[in-house]
Amino acid sequence: MARAKIALIGSGMIGGTLAHLAALKELGDIVLFDIADGIPQGKALDISEAGPVDKYDSTISGTTDYADIAGADVCIVTAGVARKPGMSRDDLLGINLKVMKSVGEGIKEHAPNAFVICITNPLDAMVWALQKFSGLPSEKVCGMAGVLDSARFRHFLAEEFNVSVKDVTAFVLGGHGDTMVPLTRYSTVAGIPLPDLVDMGWTTQDKLDAIVQRTRDGGAEIVGLLKTGSAYYAPAASAIEMAEAYLKDQKRLLPAAAALSGEFGQKDMYVGVPTVIGAGGIERIANIKLSKEEQAGFDKSVDAVKGLMEACIAIDGSLA
Ligand code: APR
Repeated sequence: MARAKIALIGSGMIGGTLAHLAALKELGDIVLFDIADGIPQGKALDISEAGPVDKYDSTISGTTDYADIAGADVCIVTAGVARKPGMSRDDLLGINLKVMKSVGEGIKEHAPNAFVICITNPLDAMVWALQKFSGLPSEKVCGMAGVLDSARFRHFLAEEFNVSVKDVTAFVLGGHGDTMVPLTRYSTVAGIPLPDLVDMGWTTQDKLDAIVQRTRDGGAEIVGLLKTGSAYYAPAASAIEMAEAYLKDQKRLLPAAAALSGEFGQKDMYVGVPTVIGAGGIERIANIKLSKEEQAGFDKSVDAVKGLMEACIAIDGSLA
């Protein structure tokens, strides 16, 4: 059987990390694409030269020509600009919307059967625009945010409880921004929900609230430390988990920005929800029950995403 083909649209910090991780996991042959000539070719050669040491056979190539992504099974999109200190994800909207238009057209022409995972921020609005620009079926276009936000939450919880990250599960819903909704009730240590762990004295409600806030600010914390860009190791690892779920038909239950058609009372928009990812793309959305407070948090997050969609429509009327 031929190897899968993975196209990485954008070969910056996340793009390069994605390529190395995809090669290490031997998910398929990899094409790095970018508009900055030399960057994708240079990273492709560098990662290829790690192959004899890391022992992978994947072919890794770099290009500035969309024709080279032809027939890709998976496209992971990081093209655009990243945050600098003081910027919110929303500040990137104007520039990155134009980038989504060109990327959407490139994918439509050369890789219309791909499963597309968008990472470019502001995530929920960008993946919505990318689906419209590409015209691909909505179940084949999704956004990576929930796996990353949940991973950040899990890391902080594992540190707090002094237990293995392997035993910590967490759920974060809503838009990938300050309004994201970490769900403590659905987050557990080996099945024990966080509110029970508070009752057991493993942590206090105040500490848990601080961890929830740190999760919401997780991206900004890294931007503040790096000063020259935003996070890339954890975002890349998270998107690779989603790509692997699709390529291996794993039917993983992972939070992702998915197109809603009535779930959680919303439609015609993308926002972070629990999804099942398998060979069909986003195969199912788990319409879990929310408490009044959780629903209010989710609705606030939805409103923030809708505000960004309106801003996109004001820039590009074809999205209306
Ligand atoms: N087509 C293809 N590539 C593009 C385009 C375009 N129209 N415009 C910009 N790029 C490329 C840049 O040349 C750069 O190599 O996108 C790459 C982005 O890389 P970085 O600046 O290193 O950004 P990165 O850290 O990878 O983040 C990318 O993901 O998490 C989000 O907020 C982040 O939106 C940002 C994106």
